[in-house]
Amino acid sequence: MRQGDSTGLGADDLRPHGPAGDRTAPAGAGAQSASAPVPVTGRADGVGREFWRISLEDLATAMETRQSEYGNPDEPLKFKIYRGLPRRPLTTRLPAELGPVDAFDEPALSTLLHYGYGISRQEFDTNGTWPYHRMVASARCLFGVQLYVCLPDGVHHYDAPHHALVRLREGDHRGLLTRATGTGGPVPQAVFVLSGLFSKIAYIYRDYAYRLCTQEAGMVAGNLDLVARAMGLRAHVHHQFLDEPVDKLLGLDGDEEPALLVLPLHLAEAAAGADSTGPPVAETAASLAATIEAIEPPVVPSGLRVPQACPMLTRVNRSSLCTDTTGFTTAVPVAPAVSDAEPRPLPTTEVPEPGLAEVLRARDSGPGIFRPVASRVDGVELWARLARIRAGIVSDAVPAGAPAPLEIFLTVGDLTGIPAGAYRLDPETGALHPVARAETRGDAADAGLNAVTAIERVTIPGPVFTHMNAVVHLVGDRDWAFDTFGDRGYRVMNQEAGLLAHRICVAAAAQGMSGRIVNAYHAEGVRAALGLTEQRHTPVFQILLARTGPGGRVIVPVEPEAVE
Ligand SMILES: Cc1cc2nc3c(=O)[nH]c(=O)nc-3n(C[C@H](O)[C@H](O)[C@H](O)COP(=O)(O)O)c2cc1C
Repeated sequence: MRQGDSTGLGADDLRPHGPAGDRTAPAGAGAQSASAPVPVTGRADGVGREFWRISLEDLATAMETRQSEYGNPDEPLKFKIYRGLPRRPLTTRLPAELGPVDAFDEPALSTLLHYGYGISRQEFDTNGTWPYHRMVASARCLFGVQLYVCLPDGVHHYDAPHHALVRLREGDHRGLLTRATGTGGPVPQAVFVLSGLFSKIAYIYRDYAYRLCTQEAGMVAGNLDLVARAMGLRAHVHHQFLDEPVDKLLGLDGDEEPALLVLPLHLAEAAAGADSTGPPVAETAASLAATIEAIEPPVVPSGLRVPQACPMLTRVNRSSLCTDTTGFTTAVPVAPAVSDAEPRPLPTTEVPEPGLAEVLRARDSGPGIFRPVASRVDGVELWARLARIRAGIVSDAVPAGAPAPLEIFLTVGDLTGIPAGAYRLDPETGALHPVARAETRGDAADAGLNAVTAIERVTIPGPVFTHMNAVVHLVGDRDWAFDTFGDRGYRVMNQEAGLLAHRICVAAAAQGMSGRIVNAYHAEGVRAALGLTEQRHTPVFQILLARTGPGGRVIVPVEPEAVE
């Protein structure tokens, strides 16, 4: 057994905590919708909300079917491998720093894929269970998210271990993918599609793989967006697209590995013309799918069969499908109330800007047991980074120009320039509003806990909280998600949150901290610790921020050959 492995959720660690969610909670007053909030799926919603309750509010139930990672007969291959298809190696002579490109040529594509979702480090240990790390974090390094690239010459799978593209289908299908997103405008340079290969995660987590896959799809999209931006490119994030034609184009079985996100990519100057914020271009899944010839690319078989092993996941996934672009919609979530306490205005400060490539090479989640080392971290610098993190993402989940639909809560343990305590970051001004913490168990001791200890108390034992610099929570409006997007809301919320979670990990890395995503927390307890009073407001990500050491690992960077 891997020593010091606290990562992930251990069924044995989970104790039921408080009431099991709010099964009977009514749909909220509704999000502030830009158009009538018609669920895009056109199906009665319910499965998504129920899965939300279990996977976010009732971890003990969610982990009942959890399997061991070790000696598990369903363990899949570390990577999805196609055989007998044309393979195009990508150059490994890559820039050590990212800068604007004049054209989206082969070196630009190779650079974007390496820094976007390439392998960054290899870990050597005695049992070899988590050998590969990539530019984006993944629960237990399982990497369920697959990346497909549609270029003028065909549709490709990104084979990360060989840094190559495998061609699945010939021809230019970028226009078809934009039609599937209900948008028009100029043809993108490339269209990226992120899918969730559930079996990669479900061999351990069964139904819960849906949460992890959707969180990680958002994170990978978040990194592709950051890298693209640094290269003078722009990505548009589409949670809403016609599933059937996209899956068919890629040769995917939608039960085993559905497409989760579609990201058209434009050169920055062309991106404005590719405005995807108008009313959707009418299209149906069935009519678009009928124009595509079915393919079955040969994949090395591996892993369990998802519909049999994961009935709940399969129901949620099936009920989230979009069949008609005219149902696509956007809305703004309802923000949590702020306390009466005087907010702290964001001081003016210089924020050093280390290059993104360097930061991504340094990004990590810390060792198996997350153990902070005592350190001085500039809190105002971190605050300034967090204050701008919600801006600039172009996503079809919110009206044009609206910030990312998640609220940021910062719990400070040990940072210079911000007193210890829990705060909500004001999305407009960047001010920190101290939260009025609710006492979880009615015992007076709760009131005396410091803010970080209050979070530790509602986190499943594993990480060490002593010397923790800070903890970030991303809080979403559940009712916004389901009232606006129907059962698709589960995906939309997790993916939107993943986009921000990755940006937070990058902000941490820029200041020499590890950013550890931890799903093993009790939502109700976190709600109380953050002073949230409404059930609709759910903590969807918890991210521990601290300087850490290697923790006894042998872990080496995987570096491309640098070019000038
Ligand atoms: C969606 C997600 C959920 C995770 N959940 C946990 C968790 O519950 N507990 C934990 O200790 N680590 C958790 N992790 C951390 C991963 O195990 C860690 O990111 C992984 O080992 C990769 O390490 P690296 O980012 O240093 O490459 C999670 C990561 C992700 C992306």
